[in-house]
This record gives sequence, structure tokens and C-alpha cells, in this order.
Amino acid sequence: MIPSVLPTYNRAPLSFVKGEGSWLIEENGRRYLDLCAGIATTALGHAHPALVAALTEQANRLWHVSNLYRIPEQQALADALTDKTFADTVFFTNSGTEACELAVKMARKHHHDAGRPERTEILTFEGNFHGRSGAAIAASGAEKMVKGFAPLMPGFTILPFGDHDALRAAVSEKTAAILVEPILGEGGIKPLPDQCLKGLRDLCDEHGVLLILDEVQCGMGRTGRLFAHEWAGIEPDIMMVAKGIGGGFPLGAVLATEDAASGMVAGTHGSTYGGNPLGCAVGAKVLEIVSDPDFLAEVNRKAGLLRQKLEGLVAAHPDVFDHVRGEGLMLGLVCKATNTDVVQAGYDQEMLLVPAAENVVRLLPALTIADEEIAETVARLDRAAQAVSAKQPA
Ligand SMILES: Cc1ncc(COP(=O)(O)O)c(C=O)c1O
Repeated sequence: MIPSVLPTYNRAPLSFVKGEGSWLIEENGRRYLDLCAGIATTALGHAHPALVAALTEQANRLWHVSNLYRIPEQQALADALTDKTFADTVFFTNSGTEACELAVKMARKHHHDAGRPERTEILTFEGNFHGRSGAAIAASGAEKMVKGFAPLMPGFTILPFGDHDALRAAVSEKTAAILVEPILGEGGIKPLPDQCLKGLRDLCDEHGVLLILDEVQCGMGRTGRLFAHEWAGIEPDIMMVAKGIGGGFPLGAVLATEDAASGMVAGTHGSTYGGNPLGCAVGAKVLEIVSDPDFLAEVNRKAGLLRQKLEGLVAAHPDVFDHVRGEGLMLGLVCKATNTDVVQAGYDQEMLLVPAAENVVRLLPALTIADEEIAETVARLDRAAQAVSAKQPA
């Protein structure tokens, strides 16, 4: 019999009733060190007092009004985002997937209204992940995501990751945009080198193509800058944001330049919940905290500490781990053992890790993780690696 919850997830037999910072607690009192953070979502940990206060204050005043009216909390968050980024304008969504839908629409409409209706094609790269909607799975092209869901939305070309010649050859008069994650998340914590991001920017400028960055997983302070692309010194035309921006409250956004967004006039897009007062009140508080240079400096310091300890861990367990990759507090352990065995051994050590493609184990802690919790993470990983090692065939 089909479960009452549609069985689209292989769920671990864990369930939590309470969260405190970097910890998740089961009904029986067992405390798990949370290196998943809702897959890079609870950026400030669980039950951060400032977020609880922002949410409850707003909840006591006003939950929802339609986008038919002005929403001061939405205006305030849009102003703060445009102040702190390349963007001139913002549309709020409830998720990263919805941000992907709008980013694709926006790019196509931009060219359409500029008299280039033939520019509809979006170029993406193997290993990318942008969500599970029609546009997002077509943009990914991965067999496990698209199989059985044909016909796919047309107009996406998926190129081999890192193949510059294939990319150059693929850009044509039909290209509307290049869509890329600065660090592939689900794809295995694979950063695009700064040089490649710069190269993509130049290529887009050369050919009148829009650059769309998906910073749903790598944005909002995770790499130690507010947004990951800042490290490369480039700016996108359109950027997708979600996950961390709501700190666990469902919130996403598309940020864009005035030019890129020029086609999105009244009536071209909408959302019932996108930009609702509750989400925007929380988002504004998250942004205020995360964009503080002192906070970001701490993220960088902690990231250095964790990375250094992980390098030591890898050296101590060469049969289990191959190397560490990633940026900031978005780190991946490329495994020699099977990554899901490491995740399982993590559960046994009361620690939550996340598998990703290319046999990677992801560490996506709350950006507020304490130094002692970093030490505890590596101690538990060490024990998990010993357990995995003991089970490896000789
Ligand atoms: C890079 C990236 N883009 C888009 C999405 C989709 O976001 P959501 O699950 O909020 O729809 C995800 C989710 O994991 C993601 O990692």
C-alpha cells in the first residue's frame, strides 16, 4: 500500500522534535550534530533567537496579504538586497525551484522584448541541479530526474562540465542565457574556478547572452562572502537565491539587473505566497545578520579551521577519503569508500551528513557553528571513518 506521504524520498529512520543551533534532538533526547542544516537552509542554525523574534513579532501582526497590495516587509527586503548586491530588482518566491522558473522566463522575455525572439535557448552544464519543476529538470537533463517525465520543456542544452571548447561552440544566435551554479551542490560540491566564472561573464558579454547564477545552495554567506560569485569579481545578470535566505522559512528570490528584468512588466509573473510578510520579515533579519562583515569574517575563519581539520582527517583515513573540496562552509569529502556508507556511519555517531554526486559526502553546517562543534564534527567523522574502514573488504 502506498504510504500516506508520497514515497519520493528514501528517508533515514530519524525524526526530530527540536532544534538548537547546530543540534537536532529526537523525542528520546538523542542529540545529533547537524552538518546538513536542511541542506544549507538553516544558515543561522535552529531556533536562532533573532529569527524566532522576527517571525513571532510578524506572526502577531500580519501573516498574509496578496501581492495585489504593497507589502512593506517585502519592500524592505528588496531594498536591502538591491543595496547589498549587483541587482536592481527582486521577485520573491517560496523556493529555489520557483526561482529557476522565473529566471528562465525572465531571460527569454528579455530577448523577446528586445526584438530577438529567436534567443530562447539556455545553456547549462552536466551535474547541475536547479529543482524538480519542468524547467528545472529540463535544465538538468540527468537521467534520474527526467526519466518518465517526457515531453521535457524544450530549449535547454546541457554541456560537459569544464569543456570550454564545447561551450564556445554551443553559443549561437539562439542562446538566451547561460545558467550555472558557482559551486555545484547536488553535483558534488564542485566549485567553478574564478577564472571560469570570469570567462563565462566575458563570453556572455561578447555574445549578448545573459548570465544566470544559481546561488540557491552556495549563496547567503556560505562561502564567506554574501554571494559566491563575489570571489570571482564578476556580476551576473540574474541570480537565483533560496534556502539560506529564509533560515528555514520557505523563501526564495530572483535578483536581476534592470536590463535583464526589462520584460517582466505587470501581468507577466506572479505568486500567491511569494514575498509574504512572514517570509520577508525573517529574510530581512537573516540578511542583516549574514551580510555583516564581522559575521562573514567569522564564517571564513571557521571555514579555515574546519578545512584544516578535514585535511588531517583525510590524511588519517586514506582508505576512506580521497580529498576535500569546496569553499567556505560548503565542503565535500570526496570518498574512496561508498559515500552513503560514510553518511550511515555518521548517523551511528549521531551526526547528520549529506551525500552528493561523484561519491561525495557534503558538510553544510550552520554558519554559526562553534569552534568546539567543529572539533566535535571531526572527532565524530574520525570514528565514522574507522567504522567504515573496519567494514571495507581487505
Ligand atoms: C543549486 C540549487 N538550485 C535549486 C534548488 C531547488 O531549490 P528548492 O528545493 O528550494 O526548490 C536546489 C535545491 O537543492 C539547489 O541546491
